[in-house]
Amino acid sequence: MKNSIRFAAILFLALAVGAVKTAFAASAAEAQMVVHVDRPGPVIHREVYGQFAEQLGRGIDEGIWVGVDSPIPNIRGYRKDVVDALKAIHVPVIRWPGGCYADEYHWRDGIGPRAQRPIRPNQSWGGEDRNVFGTHEFMDFAELIGAEAYIGMNVGSGSPREMADWLEYVTADGKSTLALERKSNGRDKPWKLDYVGVGNEAWGCGGHMRPAYYADLYRQFATFVRSSSGTALARVASGANADDVVWTEGVLSVAAELIDVYSVHYYTLPSGQWKHKGSATAFGEADWIATLRNALRMDAILNMHGAILDKYDPAKRIVLAVDEWGTWYDGEPGQSPLYQQNSLRDALTAAVTLNIFHAHADRVRLANIAQMVNVLQSMVLTDHEKMVLTPTYHVFDLYKVFQDATSLPFELQAPDYVLGAVKVPGLHASAARDASGGVHIALVNLNPNQAAELKLQLKGFAPKQVSGRLLTAAEITSVNTFEKGGTVHPSAYSGAALLGQGVLRATLPAKSVVVLDLK
Ligand code: AHR
Repeated sequence: MKNSIRFAAILFLALAVGAVKTAFAASAAEAQMVVHVDRPGPVIHREVYGQFAEQLGRGIDEGIWVGVDSPIPNIRGYRKDVVDALKAIHVPVIRWPGGCYADEYHWRDGIGPRAQRPIRPNQSWGGEDRNVFGTHEFMDFAELIGAEAYIGMNVGSGSPREMADWLEYVTADGKSTLALERKSNGRDKPWKLDYVGVGNEAWGCGGHMRPAYYADLYRQFATFVRSSSGTALARVASGANADDVVWTEGVLSVAAELIDVYSVHYYTLPSGQWKHKGSATAFGEADWIATLRNALRMDAILNMHGAILDKYDPAKRIVLAVDEWGTWYDGEPGQSPLYQQNSLRDALTAAVTLNIFHAHADRVRLANIAQMVNVLQSMVLTDHEKMVLTPTYHVFDLYKVFQDATSLPFELQAPDYVLGAVKVPGLHASAARDASGGVHIALVNLNPNQAAELKLQLKGFAPKQVSGRLLTAAEITSVNTFEKGGTVHPSAYSGAALLGQGVLRATLPAKSVVVLDLK
């Protein structure tokens, strides 16, 4: 009797373990990754974590600048909550004033006493520009948050003379009339300017030019990009839209030797169609996977332009920049231009895009997400005195450990995530080692239905400690609102276990971003 009970108990236990195993196999995808810590690659320049702030909608007015007399707490007119949030993610570089707006902007409108500055129509995006946020306000803002400054010059409706004067105003020390004018407007020392954009989207809103025409114009303008204080200014050529390699070939074949940075723009639209892009918030799994697939196209786009750059610049002197990237959805009724909510889907698109930049670290050494506040895939949304951090912000926060870290090569094998006819990798990753020797591994599980069990092997490094942070949420459509700001919020990650000799296992929840920190 006793024996038969024992037998029944053992049988029950065996069946139960089997059932758990089967259930687990069905619910978690098995994946393997080998990271070569002993074969360091190029440095991931922190400038790929750059931001873009265009004079448009509520991106700058209200989003960054509220003015010194505002009841919203501010530091010399910049809203304090936004400044604090941006400082926390170590924004390395900011691009301003556009975008399309750069090619209609005249810098003299934005200097001198604010009350006396002209009000101009914003022909690109609607509304008016009161010009209260001009050169002084931008350069001081960049200094305040500790970022490098990138100014886009007006080529489409400006002149080399207007551009050269602006550069002198910003960078001249000494006693030139423009330096004295800057001083009389309140800034004694010249600012440190880092990047100078020579036009924007010259193939489109920047003048609807043909590549050969722009290339000649670039040569002319670039000749007069000079810093009066002798500091280095990187000249940025307006490059291709997405995969337009004809533009890249046309510009580089004529102007490569005068180009320091060649910029490409690529936006992720769920539908891939500009007319009906798709909703930021009302979407299903088909839109989720389509958006991620479209974001992953960034890799092919960088390969295409990178190959042409390699032809004209095999030494990789020229930086390939993606100085506008991010998701772009249909506008929301009643909202300011290009305002959009930001969901867990945006967090994952940001994470895979940053992983792709890391993989191209040898050439891609500048990128600016579009945009910083209240416009497109922003870090922060504001509504008068209220502010909320977006899921994308949290990815930039998790990923800041990669700024200036050394990339590490790896192999990753994981089952694809498939929905209907659309297939994307189930997992997407990057790895790097920081200056203090710590290794960071970013792991994105694109599958919203299935966790992944990852066996991770580190070559040439046996960590003693593993910690990490996790970003996920209940739904693919989860967002942070002004009322409920913590719906998509990072938490401490405890799903990894060290197995010794540089091996660990990690469970990656469905639809998540994990950044592991190994010491
Ligand atoms: O980021 C919004 C707009 O997108 C920019 O002004 C323009 O350069 C691009 O087409």
